[in-house]
Amino acid sequence: MRSVLDIVDLSVEELDELMKTACDIIDDPEKYQEVCRHKKLATLFFEPSTRTRLSFEAAMYELGGNVISVSSAGASSAAKGESVADTAKTVSCYADIIAMRHPKEGAAMVAARAASIPVINAGDGGHNHPTQTLADLLTIYREKGHMGNLTIGLCGDLKFGRTVHSLINAMSRYENVKFVLISPEELKVPSYVKKDVLQRNRIPYIQTTDLEGVISQLDILYMTRVQRERFFNEEDYLRLKDSYILTPQKLLNAKEDLCIMHPLPRVNEISIAIDDDPRACYFKQVANGKYMRMALILKLLKEAGTI
Ligand code: CP
Repeated sequence: MRSVLDIVDLSVEELDELMKTACDIIDDPEKYQEVCRHKKLATLFFEPSTRTRLSFEAAMYELGGNVISVSSAGASSAAKGESVADTAKTVSCYADIIAMRHPKEGAAMVAARAASIPVINAGDGGHNHPTQTLADLLTIYREKGHMGNLTIGLCGDLKFGRTVHSLINAMSRYENVKFVLISPEELKVPSYVKKDVLQRNRIPYIQTTDLEGVISQLDILYMTRVQRERFFNEEDYLRLKDSYILTPQKLLNAKEDLCIMHPLPRVNEISIAIDDDPRACYFKQVANGKYMRMALILKLLKEAGTI
């Protein structure tokens, strides 16, 4: 049974096919409004979410399907000690496909091994968040018109930011992409990502703490939140949380066609004064996420022979 746990579970050809399907859904939503009739998506969210859970649920409804949901760990038998594997086996009796978020790295893989239906990783700890990356890829494609020849700045919490790790993995597979990794020393991209993805594939990158010093080089600026929930002590979080705050002043030397992205939720990383700047793309990312999740649900249910 095919599941999607990591963005590299999808080939570049499949990413392109998903973007094509998402664009077709945007152009002609009526064509898709009954394709998942009588099918059920289970959203199992053991960690908080607004966008990912609601966009999966909206996606399934817009495909004509239904949704059953666990919206928090405390509202399921996980609170009584049930394992992820037993939960996945149980939900396989009720639904056709699972989207799962969990605070533990690898939890989606455990669920996929136990389930008899496809499992989509909707975020596992600080590890991966492949469907956010699908939203990011469609945003880059629709804003830039191409996926290669881009200098991508990633800024903020690059250590715990699972969306950053998935995006580096995905964009490293396109031609002539360079990364500028902007973070405090304590929140640098983990060495396994640098070694296994960037260095292994000979992808050019630099690391810096100075956002304003590099902003003029960037085609894309991907801001991220410093994630309080991943810190072991509050003191470190408070010291690092406002390391980078993007303001109109800091954009003075940026390109006219810079694409400013953020997976959201934002706390202080992007001033609301930037929201009306035509370069602000973060709410377009939110919309694109629903269409890519529709395309992914369709693909996995077709491959499973369910539709
Ligand atoms: N981007 C994202 O994963 O948002 P939520 O945590 O609200 O789902």
